[in-house]
Amino acid sequence: MLSCSVRLSRAESTPAVLGRQSTHLDILGERYATDEITNITPAIISKLSERLHTQHGHPLSTLRALIEGHYADYTHLSSFSPLVTPFKNFDELSFPKDHPGRSVTDSYYVNKDLMLRTHTSAHEVEVFGKGETKWLLTADVYRRDEIDGSHYPVFHQMEGARIFDATPTGMKEVEEDNERLSYHLARSNIVIEDVPHLAPTNPNQPEHNPLHSELVAKNLKLSLNALMLTLFGTSNRTEPLRVRWIEAYFPFTSPSFEVEVFFRGKWLEILGSGVVRQATLDTAKVPNKLGWAFGLGLERIAMILYSIPDIRLFWSKDERFLSQFQQGAITTFKPYSKYPSCFKDVSFWLPQEANLHENDFCDLIRDVTGDLVEDVKTVDRFVHPKTNRTSLCYRINYRSMDRSLSNEEVNEIQSLVVSRLKDAFGVEIR
Ligand code: PHE
Repeated sequence: MLSCSVRLSRAESTPAVLGRQSTHLDILGERYATDEITNITPAIISKLSERLHTQHGHPLSTLRALIEGHYADYTHLSSFSPLVTPFKNFDELSFPKDHPGRSVTDSYYVNKDLMLRTHTSAHEVEVFGKGETKWLLTADVYRRDEIDGSHYPVFHQMEGARIFDATPTGMKEVEEDNERLSYHLARSNIVIEDVPHLAPTNPNQPEHNPLHSELVAKNLKLSLNALMLTLFGTSNRTEPLRVRWIEAYFPFTSPSFEVEVFFRGKWLEILGSGVVRQATLDTAKVPNKLGWAFGLGLERIAMILYSIPDIRLFWSKDERFLSQFQQGAITTFKPYSKYPSCFKDVSFWLPQEANLHENDFCDLIRDVTGDLVEDVKTVDRFVHPKTNRTSLCYRINYRSMDRSLSNEEVNEIQSLVVSRLKDAFGVEIR
């Protein structure tokens, strides 16, 4: 999966790289001051207003609606701004101060006080705080990443949560819901590999009565098993749907679980989930509740259900892509053609003692080339024993999804990449 395979130490990597010349940035109609950690690029800013999950007929919108239909009696939210404080994205959710997700190599910052949300969990406190007890929230999320067919710096997540009164009446409600869901699942063509609801490696929170926590974790699992049936349990299936539960770790849930589904011969990771940390509910000022939350990535599921082979296609404006889909229908994507690849290498020396994170390189590529690059691979990396300088060689695979690229055109783009590389990092081309 990691095609940009150079993982440099985070502390050493260049903090801010692009778009730093100006003292401010205009984002979604507002002006923001930049600072030394600004790393949001024009390519990313241009995505903020797209909101693919709300574009009628788009596969991501159909998938959102399908999940909303499954949770019909939940509040459905989908218009929260992607700009959040790091406090909201991390601190409110009990992320430790040194969590790697906070680093400028992993996340996009407008400045030190404002970032692009990296997950929909960033809105948990806000939504619980409004008094919502059963809700779904869909949004675009942003993470700095490598370039390949299944990674894109913007993707879409859906957060779902349900909380109950931490009282005998509340727990009775959970028990009744568990009975209803168990009855439904027992009559469905599904095989579930489970793990214990609580374990020493996946513990109950000290604030919780373990019996309550067990009931809530069971409710979470039953509810999501039923969702997996809605998404993957098509009627023409003869084999049972296989779902497996795996112990996981998230700073804002305990116990925590991941769900995988066996589909077309492979186990696919679908979502993260768990019993909501009481600190989150305390911060939201609903201390007398307890409940569960999950977060799932829409692209990954849509790529499977629609047979969409490359994550860049979701952003395509090509009618040959868009006209294939209708709101409410899951159909198999028919690739209209695969245009040829054009490989270009770039080799360079980094300035002495300097370093370049793969994500910095990939962001530069995305900024210069848009979606014309299919993947980037590290071909070579070594440190010169005498000068101590680092040499790097990347292989860039140019391939448009919509048309053939001429060699001249690619050469032109490649020379832009090279000059940006020199300007931004002071590298010496070899
Ligand atoms: N926010 C987590 C992620 O993006 C998923 C998650 C959501 C996990 C809710 C637990 C509860 O990976």
